[in-house]
Amino acid sequence: MSVIGQGTRRLEGREKVAGTTRFTADLELAGLLHVQLVLSHLPSARIRAIDTAEARSAPGVVSVVTGADLPTVSASSPDKPLAVGRVFYAGQPVAAVIADTEAAAWDAAALIEVDYEPLPATIDPEAAMREGAPPVLDVAEAADSDDASMHGAGTDSEATPVRRPPNVSAVATQKRGDAEAALKSADVVVKGTYRLAGVHHAAMEPHVAMARPEPNGGMTVWAPTQGPFYVRDEVAKVLGVPPYKVRVVPMPVGGGFGGKVTLLETLLTLLARRAGRPLRLALTRQQEFLVARSAPAASFDLELGAKRDGSLVAIRARYHYDNGASSGWHAGITSSFLAGTYQCPNFDITGFEVSTNKTPVEAYRAPGAPQAYFALESAMDELALKLEIDPIELRLRNATREGDPTVDGATWPKIAMIECLEEAQRHPLYTAPCSASEGVGIALGSWGGARTPAAAGCRVEPDGTLSILIGTVDVSGASTGLAMIAAEAFGISMDKVRIETGDTGVAPFGPLAAGSQVTYSVGGAVYEAALEAKRQLLEIATEELEAAPEDLEITDGRVAVRGVPERFVEITRLVAMSTEFMGRHRPIQATGRSAVQSASPMFTVHIARVRTDPETGGFQLTGYAAIQDVGRAINPPEIKGQIHGGVAQGLGRALGEQLAYDGDGQLRTASFLDYELPSADQLPDIDVRLIEVPSPVGPLGAKGVGEPPAVPGPAAICNALARATGTRVRDLPIDRSALARRAQTI
Ligand code: MOS
Repeated sequence: MSVIGQGTRRLEGREKVAGTTRFTADLELAGLLHVQLVLSHLPSARIRAIDTAEARSAPGVVSVVTGADLPTVSASSPDKPLAVGRVFYAGQPVAAVIADTEAAAWDAAALIEVDYEPLPATIDPEAAMREGAPPVLDVAEAADSDDASMHGAGTDSEATPVRRPPNVSAVATQKRGDAEAALKSADVVVKGTYRLAGVHHAAMEPHVAMARPEPNGGMTVWAPTQGPFYVRDEVAKVLGVPPYKVRVVPMPVGGGFGGKVTLLETLLTLLARRAGRPLRLALTRQQEFLVARSAPAASFDLELGAKRDGSLVAIRARYHYDNGASSGWHAGITSSFLAGTYQCPNFDITGFEVSTNKTPVEAYRAPGAPQAYFALESAMDELALKLEIDPIELRLRNATREGDPTVDGATWPKIAMIECLEEAQRHPLYTAPCSASEGVGIALGSWGGARTPAAAGCRVEPDGTLSILIGTVDVSGASTGLAMIAAEAFGISMDKVRIETGDTGVAPFGPLAAGSQVTYSVGGAVYEAALEAKRQLLEIATEELEAAPEDLEITDGRVAVRGVPERFVEITRLVAMSTEFMGRHRPIQATGRSAVQSASPMFTVHIARVRTDPETGGFQLTGYAAIQDVGRAINPPEIKGQIHGGVAQGLGRALGEQLAYDGDGQLRTASFLDYELPSADQLPDIDVRLIEVPSPVGPLGAKGVGEPPAVPGPAAICNALARATGTRVRDLPIDRSALARRAQTI
C-alpha cells in the first residue's frame, strides 16, 4: 500500500472553508488589552516632540508609549520597534496606545500630536543614487545576508568594497570572461530596460499578534508566524531572557508568502512587559500596506548577445532594487539567476541595493526571482524573435544540464530544466495555431530552495492513530503531505495520522516555513520518526506474539505474524500495555531528525496564451499552463493548488498589482480599492503538469514546490502580448492604456 502520489484533501481545509478555524485575532484572554499604533505621515523627518497628554487621559487608556520609553533595541534606526528621534518612511510606527478596547485605543491614538521637522526625502531610487542625494539611512549598512538565506536564496555575491553611489548599501557582481568584447562580436544583440513595481504579499490575514507576560519573567506569544522558533529567539533577545522563557504558540497562518516571519512581536512583547498585561495588536488593511514590508521594485538594463544559431555569448546587466528604508538583500540572488540559468561563457552583472524613504522591503515568494526572470525571459524572447528561432528551441540550446558549471564554480546537480522545456514544447497550448489576434508566450523560472535541519516526534495514541509532532507551521498544505509521508513509513492509512505543530516550549526544532523547504527539510524527519515508532511498536509486539520483528507486519490496525493472520495483536492493545498503570512496556515515543545535505534546484516553464483586441489594446488570458519539476509529487492535487496560487501571485505583478508612491513618499495604493489584486475573471483555467525527476536527497525524492510558480508569469504574458501585437511591454504592471494608445497609432 502506498499513499504517496494519491490525492488527499487538506487536513485542515474543511475548517478553513467552513470559517471555523480559530485565527490569532479570534483568541480571547482574560484581562486582554488592545494596542493601536500612531504612524508617521512623513517619509523623512526629525521628531521634535510627541504630546501624549490628551491621549493618556482619554477614556479606557491604560498607557501611551513612545520610542523613548522603550529599552534600546539593537536594530537599524528604521527597524526600531517605535521610532527614536527620527522617521524614515511614511507608515513608520511612532507611538503606541494601550487601552481597554480597540475602539478606545483608536480614539486615543488620534489625540497624539507629533511635532515633526520635515527633512529632505529621497523617494526615487535613481535620484537616490545621484551625487548629492540626501542620505536615507543614518549609516549605510551591509546587506543582510541572513534574511536572504532564510528564504532559501543562495547569497554568492557579497558587498564589494568598491566605491558605491550614494544610498547604495551593497553591490552584487557576477563576472566571467569578457562580456564587453563578446557583445561587440556577437551576431545579434538585444538590449532593453525592464522595470517591475514593488508589490505586496496582500495576505488575506493582516499581521496580528498577542503577548502575555508570564510570572517567571518570560512571555507567551501567539502569532501567525512562519517561524515560531525564529520569533522565540528574537523576542528573547529583546527582552533579555533565555529562549526557554519565551513560548511562541504558532497560530494558523492566513497567508504568509515570506511576509509573516516576524513584524510586530518584539514591539508587542516590550509593550506587554511594560503594561504587565496581555496585549493584542492587529493591523488594519491600510496599516498592513504601510507597515508590513513588501517586495522591492526593481529596474534592469539587460543585454544579451548570441550567435546566429542562438547560442548565448554574453549577458550584461546593470540593475537596482528599491529597498525602501532598509539595506536590502535581493540583488545577490538575482545576479545568480541572471548569470547562472543558461550556460554562457561571458557575463558581467552588477546589481545595486538602493535605500529610499519608503517602507522597508521583505522577502516575498521567491525573492529576487520574479524580477530576474522578467528581465531575462523577456530578453530571451526578444532574442528568439530577432533570430527567428522557436523560443523553446532557443532555451534548449542554452539550457543547463547536470555537471555544467554554476556561477560560483561548483557543478549543477541533476535538474529538470530540459524536461520542463520539452514538456512545454509538446503542450497543446503551445502547439495550437494562433489566430491574428492571439499570441502564445513562454517563460522559464527557477528557485534554489532552502534547507534547514529539522526534528519530529511520533506517538501512537490509544486509538491506534499516529500523532506527529513538529515545530514547523503549515502555510501551504504541507502538513497533509507530511501526514502522507508518516503513513507511508509506518504502514497505515492516511486518515490515521495527524500532524501537530507544537509551541516552542515542547515542539521538536523545526525550520521556518519558507524557502520552499518544509516538505524537503521536515519530511525526512517525519519519515524517520514514523519508522522509529513502528520499530518500537513491533518491539513490544515481538514479546507479545513471540515472533521476530522481521516476521511481523502492520495491517488493519493490527500487528500480525506474516503468513499467520490468526496470530495478531491490536495496535490499541500494544499502546495500552505501554501506557497503563503497572504496564510492562515502555511508551512509544519516537524521534526523527534530518539535515538534507544539498539543495535540489527547482525549474518551471509557463505558457501563456492571450487574445488581444486590436481596437482597444485590451487583452485577455485565454489559456495558461504551468509545468514544474517537483521531484516526487507527494500529494498531487495540493501541489497543483499551490501552483495555481503561485501563478496568480506571479501574474498579479503583470496584471495590475503595484505599490505606487507619489513624489512625496505617500503610498497611493494602500487599500484593495487601489491595489489591483488579480480577480478570478482575469485568470483562465491553469493547466498544471508535474514533472517528476526525483531528488537524490529529498524525502522520497521530493523537491520544493512553493516558490517557482510565482516566478515566470510576468514574462510569459508579456512574451505572449509581444507575439500577438508586436508591442513589447517592459514595464510592470502592464499599462493597458499605453497598449490602447499604441494600438490606435498602428
Ligand atoms: Mo519565503 S519568501 O522563503 O517565505
